[in-house]
Amino acid sequence: MKALLTLAFTLALSVVSAAPAPAPAVPSPAQIPFYLVTTSQSHRATSPSSLKNVSATSLFDPYYQPNYLLRLTGPGYLSLSTFTLSNGTLHTTQSGPHGIGTFEYNSTAVVAGSDLQFAPAPQRAGNLALKKGYLLTVDGKEKGWTICAGQLGQAVVFADAVQIEWQGADASCAATYLQAVSTAPY
Ligand SMILES: *[C@@H]1O[C@H](CO)[C@@H](O)[C@H](O)[C@H]1NC(C)=O
Ligand SMILES: *[C@@H]1O[C@H](CO)[C@@H](O)[C@H](O)[C@H]1NC(C)=O
Ligand SMILES: *[C@@H]1O[C@H](CO)[C@@H](O)[C@H](O)[C@H]1NC(C)=O
Repeated sequence: MKALLTLAFTLALSVVSAAPAPAPAVPSPAQIPFYLVTTSQSHRATSPSSLKNVSATSLFDPYYQPNYLLRLTGPGYLSLSTFTLSNGTLHTTQSGPHGIGTFEYNSTAVVAGSDLQFAPAPQRAGNLALKKGYLLTVDGKEKGWTICAGQLGQAVVFADAVQIEWQGADASCAATYLQAVSTAPY
């Protein structure tokens, strides 16, 4: 999967640098699947693994709820979510609750103090964008993403779950940037 994505990126980049192709034939960077990582730096790094305080992310559904959340994922994961962005909305393919079915999950409109959520349903135009092609923004702003402790408290399995919120105000929330990267950071 990772190798395929890297290949897709390489191919897409070579298409871009190979110059005058007709506009519609060149995929916009936001249409090439990317990983989302959290990092304390807003500028790009030569490689995702050298981003400051970098963490991979993936979708999860701690309560088997219809809307998925995004959490930090350490080394040793089985797979990472990949995304595309169109219409101000992030898209990712994911199996449904309890692993049943496969659906295209779409980010819902991002509002302050709320988790970044993904619903298996079509969405109206969203408020997300990739500034300079890599920095995830809400209404044009890249500052405001926070990493917050999950609401499950003592529940052992998810005790270490941290979720991504927009302008989370809880004492547990730490500011972060979300960057789109072409390869996994670890
Ligand atoms: C680094 O990331 C962790 C979460 O992975 C967070 O708790 C911590 O506050 C971050 N540190 C800095 C300096 O941003
Ligand atoms: C997610 O959005 C896309 C694009 O609007 C749509 O084609 C797709 O059906 C949506 N996913 C689901 C599960 O409805
Ligand atoms: C994009 O957003 C518009 C406005 O809400 C909506 O009508 C349209 O179906 C969306 N397109 C896709 C591909 O999701």
